[in-house]
Amino acid sequence: MEYISKSVQETYEIAEKIRIEYISYKIFLLEGDLGSGKTTFVKGFVNALKCKEDVTSPTFTIVQEYDCRKKIYHIDLYRLHSISEIIDIGIDDYLESGEYVFIEWGDHYKRNINEKYLTIRFYMIDLNTRVINLQESS
Ligand SMILES: Nc1ncnc2c1ncn2[C@@H]1O[C@H](COP(=O)(O)OP(=O)(O)OP(=O)(O)O)[C@@H](O)[C@H]1O
Ligand SMILES: [Mg+2]
Repeated sequence: MEYISKSVQETYEIAEKIRIEYISYKIFLLEGDLGSGKTTFVKGFVNALKCKEDVTSPTFTIVQEYDCRKKIYHIDLYRLHSISEIIDIGIDDYLESGEYVFIEWGDHYKRNINEKYLTIRFYMIDLNTRVINLQESS
């Protein structure tokens, strides 16, 4: 499945659509270059849960938690490259929590995930255009 977004607002709308169409998925691996729209997507998803939490990039905090109607863990593995560093943040506990889990740069840990997940890849076409591609884990 593939979507084309022409603006931040459209990415928010696509996030809401994906939340509903893939309601059985709780784990989302977000892949794509710097600035391709991963954090923007999470913001759209969280806002769609009618949640007042302020979604920001977890690049330096690594893990952020939003308390919405559902709990949401927003993780950024950009700065973590070794599997042991990623395990040390407790990633498996988040994955097994049954809560929503969004992992930016999820490809850094992908091979170690046993749960069902949706991979969302972001491609920057031009300044405001993004291709958003979905792949189900199994
Ligand atoms: N259609 C679009 N969808 C999403 N973001 C867009 C779009 N058009 C322009 N942008 C801009 O692209 C940037 C996306 O930034 P964002 O922080 O979401 O990227 P990221 O993939 O999380 O990057 P990083 O890897 O650094 O965490 C924002 O500045 C946003 O305004
Ligand atoms: Mg980001």
